[in-house]
Amino acid sequence: QRPLRRLLSCPGTVAADLRREEQSSGNAETGSEDRTPKKRFSELQNERREQAQRTVLIHCPNKINEKKFLKFLSQHGPINTHFFYESFGLYAVVEFCQKESVTSLQNITRTPSLGPEAAIPFKSRYFNLKLRNSVNQTSELSSIQCSNQSSPSSKKLYQLLCCAESVDDQLNTLLREFQLTEENTRLRYLTCSLIEDVAAAYFPDCAVRPFGSSVNSFGKLGCDLDMFLDLDEIGKFTAQKTSGNFLMEFQVKNVPSERVATQKILSVIGECLDQFGPGCVGVQRILNARCPLVRFSHQASGFQCDLTANNRIALKSSELLYMYGALDSRVRALVFSVRCWARAHSLTSSIPGAWITNFSLTMMVIFFLQRRSPPILPTLDYLKTLADAEDKCIIEGHNCTFVRDLNRIKPSGNTETLELLLKEFFEYFGNFAFNKNSINIRQGREQNKPESSPLHIQNPFETSLNISKNVSQSQLQKFVDLARESAWILHQEGKDRPSPSSNQPWGLAALLLPSVTNNVPLSKKKKKPASERIKNLLDSIKSSGAENSIATNGR
Ligand code: GTP
Ligand code: MG
Repeated sequence: QRPLRRLLSCPGTVAADLRREEQSSGNAETGSEDRTPKKRFSELQNERREQAQRTVLIHCPNKINEKKFLKFLSQHGPINTHFFYESFGLYAVVEFCQKESVTSLQNITRTPSLGPEAAIPFKSRYFNLKLRNSVNQTSELSSIQCSNQSSPSSKKLYQLLCCAESVDDQLNTLLREFQLTEENTRLRYLTCSLIEDVAAAYFPDCAVRPFGSSVNSFGKLGCDLDMFLDLDEIGKFTAQKTSGNFLMEFQVKNVPSERVATQKILSVIGECLDQFGPGCVGVQRILNARCPLVRFSHQASGFQCDLTANNRIALKSSELLYMYGALDSRVRALVFSVRCWARAHSLTSSIPGAWITNFSLTMMVIFFLQRRSPPILPTLDYLKTLADAEDKCIIEGHNCTFVRDLNRIKPSGNTETLELLLKEFFEYFGNFAFNKNSINIRQGREQNKPESSPLHIQNPFETSLNISKNVSQSQLQKFVDLARESAWILHQEGKDRPSPSSNQPWGLAALLLPSVTNNVPLSKKKKKPASERIKNLLDSIKSSGAENSIATNGR
């Protein structure tokens, strides 16, 4: 009843947009379970990395003749695919079919002469295209269709959510609008690959691999790009080659610990990015953090990047989350909505502090889905029992083994709707005994808290660590209050939905938009005055200030 009328009462463009998107996505992301064999995480990573190595990034004039541009580039070899995007100018991402084409293009490219300034002649895969005889070409130039790299505005999201057919449809719509697009994913791998070129000047066989939300399937358009410098491949390669009675080792410099080695390597790579990494700006070397890193902006792609080294466990965590995200189509929809809800209410922040992180929220959703009856997601211990010899993985003494072939995990028989799950998620955590229990996705049940942090979420691989150690009591309380409030709103709505013609926000829209939640008559809790919110913010910053700001991120 409501669905159709809602769609009809929507502004024409949005309804049309919606229908188009539904047709083009074919419900692949959100609809019924797709039973085609799923690729392993490592397979996907390797494919994407290889693809990125054949790809170049070109800063173009604002108007360009696309056909001629492609013809010009195809002199160097066939092009597999390309797209344009805007970020302080027009950029093209062009993937050749063969790697040699990139070298060929580099060979005809010149280093610019800049007048009074001087150029550092680093030959990367990031180019600048200029028009020769631009006056003659003007008539042929046209605007280019650009791929979108940012998430929808609150206004558009609001419209889309209000036009959805059901709460389930709202959650799926939010997922569709916020998830990384194919182009954005390509740009992320390309950016890593460009950084790899810089690091490879010192470590020719290194790999710079993305991890975190760029690859774990929970990334939202605009999220940061976490990458790590993998030097392990170098060791593996040489070990295989050694045979016979002699064993050759490189003469190397020794340093007191793995940590010092990481700091030294990142220090140098950070310096290189700063001094001659094209497009890398605002390079900060944060080497004393628990997990040393180099932070910078990659201007051309618009990504905020965190480069770490020696961080295999984080990549393994990303693989685990990717598996959980792929096991059931409800997982990602629920995680995206919970993350957006948390962001909308300032429970999470881009600044490190005493806030809950997206990583912790994802763990909470996974845990909640393990607790359903029947469970929607298996426990990590169960995934470990399905592992075979090849899946065995020990990193720094931690057992990180779990089955990596998604097709060996039986789908869940649970058929609960997203609407029910969202409501129950809020109820579950609105009433969770955080004071005594720890969240543990390895066992899929609460454990006694081993230490007194307000929120305890066991790190799945380094089991003695708490991934939410940074969260303060007041932030946890805020989460609990908002969860209860949201459960209440959904519960009330279930009984008495606003009529479609009333134009009132409903379902997820009522939970997400702060201005909207304020309108809902709530006897219990009103938003605190701005002065109090600012005070809380300052308190959070103060309480985390003693620790290193990055360490508070829990890494
Ligand atoms: P975004 O907020 O979208 O960036 O999510 P994210 O998952 O990328 O989180 P973030 O950038 O903060 O961290 C990147 C990755 O580092 C995460 O996905 C985890 O794999 C890992 N990570 C973050 N925090 C912790 C932590 O407290 N402990 C451990 N072991 N790993 C962490
Ligand atoms: Mg991240």
